[in-house]
Amino acid sequence: MRLTPVVPAHVATTRHLCAAYPLVTEAGLGHEGVLVGRDLLGGAFVHDPFALYRRGVVTNPNMVVFGQIGRGKSSFVKSYLWRQAVFGRRAWVVDPKGEYGPLAEAWGVAPVTLRPGGSVRLNPLEAGPDPAGDEDPVGGPARRRSALTASLAVACLGRELRPRERAAVDVALGAAAVRAALRGAVDPILPEVVEALLDPDPAGAAALRTTVTGLAEDGRDPALELRRLVAGDLRGMFDGPTTPGLELDGPLVVLDLSAVYHSPALGVLMACAAAWLQAAVGTGTGTGAGAGGHLLLVVDEAWAILSKLNIQLNYCS
Ligand SMILES: Nc1ncnc2c1ncn2[C@@H]1O[C@H](COP(=O)(O)OP(=O)(O)O)[C@@H](O)[C@H]1O
Ligand SMILES: [Mg+2]
Repeated sequence: MRLTPVVPAHVATTRHLCAAYPLVTEAGLGHEGVLVGRDLLGGAFVHDPFALYRRGVVTNPNMVVFGQIGRGKSSFVKSYLWRQAVFGRRAWVVDPKGEYGPLAEAWGVAPVTLRPGGSVRLNPLEAGPDPAGDEDPVGGPARRRSALTASLAVACLGRELRPRERAAVDVALGAAAVRAALRGAVDPILPEVVEALLDPDPAGAAALRTTVTGLAEDGRDPALELRRLVAGDLRGMFDGPTTPGLELDGPLVVLDLSAVYHSPALGVLMACAAAWLQAAVGTGTGTGAGAGGHLLLVVDEAWAILSKLNIQLNYCS
């Protein structure tokens, strides 16, 4: 009988492996893009999501930066954006700690500071583009608005929405759009959604085969939680039409949310900011003369959103 020797698998870190097998290397991601650092297997680590997408290496150019607290994640993102600017890439940043101010200053722009009762408002229910060119029920503005509002309600309530609540939110969004049209606006605002939830109209109730009183009861909990953004401690940031005249054409736009960094509702507020940014990117806001090119959308401290909200965030566009 012949015995086959069992050779234990060799386990080593990449730092030690290159001493044991000095000629080991890997193809890397190519040399198109900005320098990130030194590749542990040799050479430079160069990265550009747009180039990788164009070459078909990735089909989804989103990025996540992981690391322990204080290990330089945000510092990396800042130098990455600074280096990307050499290639004409612009960046919009959700900045919950207020730490991108010096980067903005280096670029000659001022951060947009959001604080409860401050002078700047952003409307997270702004429509954004409609990919189908009409009211697409799957990916269109109505669907996105509904998903965002439901996610905000979920995050505020700290639990999933019940079917009745979800339906009440959907119907209220429709009624809020009608209210917006009456004041000559395209996009509803959160106070109109809260109003429509608290005081539903008979058409909405009939559509769900219930009574006005029943529908008001179904939507009451989401309404009272969303009301915090409208009439409670968080009012004055996301509860009105977007403040006109925001400087969005520059190479960098920073939304400074540091005034609410310690708020338990930070995730909700960041989600509002990110939703507004994504819609603005999609509609081409801030891509007028002097702007253009690829845009990087950055959400620092994204855990605050991801831990609570079921919202899709796209880092790049
Ligand atoms: N390569 C580096 N060398 C020295 N200090 C650094 C380096 N990268 C980051 N720092 C400093 O370390 C601290 C934490 O960095 P930061 O980027 O805020 O960490 P994180 O975002 O991972 O919590 C900051 O004061 C920053 O200036
Ligand atoms: Mg950080």
